[in-house]
Amino acid sequence: MLRVTSFVHLFIKNTFTKTSTLLDLTLGNGNDALFCLQRGHRVLGLDIQALAIERSEEKCKDYPDHEFHQIDHALLDTVIHESLDGVLMNNGYLPNGDEHITTSLTSSLAALAKSIEMMRPLAYLIVTLYRKQAGGLFEAQGIESYLRQNKKLRFDQSYTYPNDDLAALVLIFQKVDERS
Ligand SMILES: C[S@@+](CC[C@H](N)C(=O)[O-])C[C@H]1O[C@@H](n2cnc3c(N)ncnc32)[C@H](O)[C@@H]1O
Repeated sequence: MLRVTSFVHLFIKNTFTKTSTLLDLTLGNGNDALFCLQRGHRVLGLDIQALAIERSEEKCKDYPDHEFHQIDHALLDTVIHESLDGVLMNNGYLPNGDEHITTSLTSSLAALAKSIEMMRPLAYLIVTLYRKQAGGLFEAQGIESYLRQNKKLRFDQSYTYPNDDLAALVLIFQKVDERS
């Protein structure tokens, strides 16, 4: 079975063009950012932890078209001022890092609301949620409910593993084109 991270990468590969600008709201170890940079995309990335920024900068050092900021993603509008073709959010804690520093529903919703405003019409939002982590189910339910009720978005697809209600979950939404 395809892992959730591979599913997300396949979607990125099949969806965005070389000129796309993508925002990664949770840089972590920089794996998603590196994948996007290797495909020729411009990548803006945020993480609340210095360690995540250091690891991501090191991993992506050969690809200059990136801009990473150490900041709570709820405050993204203070550092990001570009229109976005895609937004990635891979929630939870930093693998091989402090498991107590994890995403929270309040800041995730603030970051999503601001991201949606900066997304171009027909841009994609790709969210990966880990429902087995501490607080993960509460956060996942809150995020899914918020996104499904958001009139600026259209549900596109989801991906998870069979026979496990708490398995990792990918949700993909597309921004509605209000001009058409
Ligand atoms: C699962 S990791 C992301 C993995 C990453 N996408 C990768 O490719 O390696 C989640 C990250 O979210 C970060 N994070 C948690 N709360 C945050 C917040 N409020 N703002 C920004 N980043 C946050 C954590 O520090 C952690 O590095």
